[in-house]
Amino acid sequence: MANYNPVTPRIVAELQQLVGAKNVTVDPDKMQPYSHDEVTDSRYHSLPEVVVFPETTAQVAQVVRLANKERVPVVPRGAGTGLACGAVPVHRGIILSLEYMNKILEVNVESLFMVVEPGVRTEDVQKAAKAAGLFYGGDPCSGDSCFIGGNVATNAGGNRAVKYGTTRDQVYAIEVVTPTGDIVDLGGRLEKVSTGYSLEQLIIGSEGTLGVITKVTLRLLPLPLHVVDLLAVFPTIESAIAIVGKIAKAGVTPTCVEFIDNVTIQSIERFLNEKLPYSDSCHYIIIQVEGKDEDDLDDKSALLDELCTTNGARSVLVADPQQIWRARKAFTETVRHESLIMSKEDIVVPVDQIPQMMRDIAALSGKYGMITRTASHAGDGNIHLNILRCDMPEEEWDHKLDAFQHELYAIVYRLGGKLSGEHGIGAKRLHLMQEVCNPIELGMMRAIKKALDPNLILNPGKIFDVV
Ligand code: MLT
Ligand code: ZN
Repeated sequence: MANYNPVTPRIVAELQQLVGAKNVTVDPDKMQPYSHDEVTDSRYHSLPEVVVFPETTAQVAQVVRLANKERVPVVPRGAGTGLACGAVPVHRGIILSLEYMNKILEVNVESLFMVVEPGVRTEDVQKAAKAAGLFYGGDPCSGDSCFIGGNVATNAGGNRAVKYGTTRDQVYAIEVVTPTGDIVDLGGRLEKVSTGYSLEQLIIGSEGTLGVITKVTLRLLPLPLHVVDLLAVFPTIESAIAIVGKIAKAGVTPTCVEFIDNVTIQSIERFLNEKLPYSDSCHYIIIQVEGKDEDDLDDKSALLDELCTTNGARSVLVADPQQIWRARKAFTETVRHESLIMSKEDIVVPVDQIPQMMRDIAALSGKYGMITRTASHAGDGNIHLNILRCDMPEEEWDHKLDAFQHELYAIVYRLGGKLSGEHGIGAKRLHLMQEVCNPIELGMMRAIKKALDPNLILNPGKIFDVV
């Protein structure tokens, strides 16, 4: 672990010189929102010493160069909607907020790409693509608030990964400020490349530990014009989850296959104060599918209807897209409403192992008497298991959660899975990462970190400790 220096008044004055006095704050009240992300447990919060708001890539580079020279931690931050404390300044230092770098620089209809700064809201990327008659494939549940830079930094997944992949699949190229303050363009608007290491792919998903993303070139696609959302309701979790593998083999390539368990559906109903279909006892599978025209869409819907019905669905209905996605996207807030303190597991397993994983989760929850809520991007094997503390005493919670996670991740890794499918490791899962990750793999990651960031100033205390 590196020894970091404090941010002195001299350093604050230098930062003011670099980005302008109005773009620097040391006011504790103004810095408070930058002490946390969406994780509500205050034990994971930490106040920075200063927050800076650069407006250009050159300013970002100058701030990082200064931090590197002074051995001060610098933590890049987007909208702060993360769920793993990836943007929390655990070693204090400088928060580098990218919220003023929020311009859409180009939408190219002819060649299907968009160039954006990191502080553009993901929903605005989607809207700008749509306004040009095109489509952006990424769709994290927090799309109305998260920033594209954060999506790239965490390789955010979301609802359409089954067909379109995760954020890394939407990215052609990135402009990056390295931990020593150089500016480099990585990747390219290419459909194939075999020219050395894919450094842009290394930076994507590195959670701000290897570089600050200052510009992104995104891939756009033709806008799908014929889309339907089917809601298949099942009487048991087992039958609902079993359909996921069958859909994968049915030859329709859905855009999304989402699962929500019944207790969670009822909880969402209470939170939204809205009646949802078959909420008395059924578990949901939401399937979104696209067709080349209405006939094609009808054929695919009929095939999926038959598949679900013959495999135990009580009903398959054409869902109201507004209602069903409002309900699905309310998951995070619903759970927070039930219990301010929770542990958000973001398990990912091979799709064919989801049924076994769900059985193991049920057994473990019973064994430890934990209250759980589950929504899942089931089509890509990503299970959001939220464990709620509710009124459990703190000491009991810490103890039980630790034992629960220990057993849970032993199973996840035995099934061929990993710690996080899309939320990342951040500071919150660092201890688990060091426990479950292959030591050789961890050693390779540490070597890369040390090579690119010799003074360990960029987002320290995230993913793993460097010793
Ligand atoms: C979601 O898909 O709803 C979020 O990524 C999950 C969560 O809040 O656990
Ligand atoms: Zn999710």
